[in-house]
Amino acid sequence: MAYQHARKAGNLADVWKHFTLLTVLADLVADRDAAAPSFAYLETHCGEGLYELAPDGEWRNGVARVLPVCKELADHPYFEALGSHLAAGSVYRGSWLLVADYLGRRRHRASLSLHDTDPAVARRLQLFSGIPHTQRLRFRCGDGYAALRRCGSWDLVFIDPPYSPDAALDYRRVAVASRSLASRHITFLAWYPLLESSHGWFTATGVRYELLMPRVGQLGRQSLTGCGMLAGGRAARSLAGHRGALAALATHVGARFRVRPDASDS
Ligand SMILES: C[S@@+](CC[C@H](N)C(=O)[O-])C[C@H]1O[C@@H](n2cnc3c(N)ncnc32)[C@H](O)[C@@H]1O
Repeated sequence: MAYQHARKAGNLADVWKHFTLLTVLADLVADRDAAAPSFAYLETHCGEGLYELAPDGEWRNGVARVLPVCKELADHPYFEALGSHLAAGSVYRGSWLLVADYLGRRRHRASLSLHDTDPAVARRLQLFSGIPHTQRLRFRCGDGYAALRRCGSWDLVFIDPPYSPDAALDYRRVAVASRSLASRHITFLAWYPLLESSHGWFTATGVRYELLMPRVGQLGRQSLTGCGMLAGGRAARSLAGHRGALAALATHVGARFRVRPDASDS
């Protein structure tokens, strides 16, 4: 069966992923004015963008645990987007829709290039009409890694594979993509799980911002012991400037926060 994100939407891994993504996005657009060229965003594994929270979904151990958020984080764009209350049946926005909404609310023009191999995602996106008028959305049903090999100048690339059914393959493909993006000076983020059995075989380029928990959720038959965001280019510098907020979020969910330097620098 193809990977289904719906049951996982809003879990702790999503909280870390979407919090770091919006942290970087906010920094990247902070200095842009209305006359700036369109913000070019590419997402390799975009998913449906909108998820209805199921009564027994993993969000119960994720966003439900985070809200109400501590004062220190209340003004963060992720928590602004979430609102103060979520319940079963509420809608949780996925990565690219959070990005589109953030840019749309600030009237930034943007072009979003989205990729996913799942035909069900393609059908949902064809019907989707909630995009702000300042955004141009292009969806391609196909391999997101292949999109990265094409020439392009993106302001931000986000790689978010399922690591299922073959986690090792996605780790390898993310590592290859990170080296290629770094060599082209393209700013990127890539989410990855910390699995019981994943130690030591992730050889990517970039700084790693990790959330460590006894248990974050389940991926296939494996337990997640945490997750991380790999950051390259301006994304790495942005997250370095927000260590305090990242540590505050980790503490707020009873987790530990760790930064691991770019192994390819040494
Ligand atoms: C973790 S989900 C994406 C979640 C989304 N980025 C978010 O945060 O809301 C992973 C997605 O990757 C898709 N997928 C799996 N293999 C793919 C590939 N080679 N290229 C593009 N998409 C793929 C799956 O269909 C699934 O929708």
